[in-house]
Amino acid sequence: MPRKPVSLGWGVRREGRTLWSRNSTRGKSVGGERRKRDGKIEWRRWDPFRSKVAAALLMTSQKASELLPGPGDTCLYLGASSGTTVSHIHDMVCGSNNHHNGQIIAVEISPRMMRDLSSLAEDRSGLIPILNDARETQSYAPVMREKAHWIHQDLSIADQAENFISIATSTLKNGGIGLLSLKAASERQFEGDDQSRFSRAEKLIEESELELIEKIDISQYQEQHMVFFVRLL
Ligand SMILES: C[S@@+](CC[C@H](N)C(=O)[O-])C[C@H]1O[C@@H](n2cnc3c(N)ncnc32)[C@H](O)[C@@H]1O
Repeated sequence: MPRKPVSLGWGVRREGRTLWSRNSTRGKSVGGERRKRDGKIEWRRWDPFRSKVAAALLMTSQKASELLPGPGDTCLYLGASSGTTVSHIHDMVCGSNNHHNGQIIAVEISPRMMRDLSSLAEDRSGLIPILNDARETQSYAPVMREKAHWIHQDLSIADQAENFISIATSTLKNGGIGLLSLKAASERQFEGDDQSRFSRAEKLIEESELELIEKIDISQYQEQHMVFFVRLL
């Protein structure tokens, strides 16, 4: 028997351990994911093994909808890659032909990834790809129509927490939500095991203007990763 869907906000639903977003480009998948119809609406499967945001939605002990932006929000996505997760965020924030009037600034440093991201954006109005180093906020802050309601950082670089704190405090609105997907293996410059690297990031966040709401262990889906769910005070 199929599970009854539970809404996690506009355009996203959960069925047991499976997540779906409401496809804003009907008839098209982004990375070969499954699609299915329910009446006139088409849903795309959101894979927690390919998306840290999806993994965090399944592993949080908070209300999952609180981790997500809403329709019409302004969002900043750092480390967009070819746009797998960005596309699902677009489904809920913009919808087809951006009828919600959302904005997603998606920053990516790799020209190879940017080619795919730019072609994704052709079909998805409201999605703005920027080829740049995400640490250089001056390269994308002027493109943002306002401070962000929601940001996600997924950069496999050193000093992920320091960078996140600096970027989030300057680009989020007060009360805005931030997700930091932290990869322990990228913090090799610090002694110790994965847990001590996560604890170091936690301490830095607690000393900042960000309120740490939850540390979400997503290692079941993404090895050596923790998602820090924060709010700007
Ligand atoms: C793990 S992948 C992101 C996956 C993506 N968030 C998703 O869920 O579909 C990390 C991406 O960050 C990009 N990246 C690494 N350092 C960066 C930087 N300093 N600025 C912008 N992008 C960067 C990499 O090129 C890579 O595409």
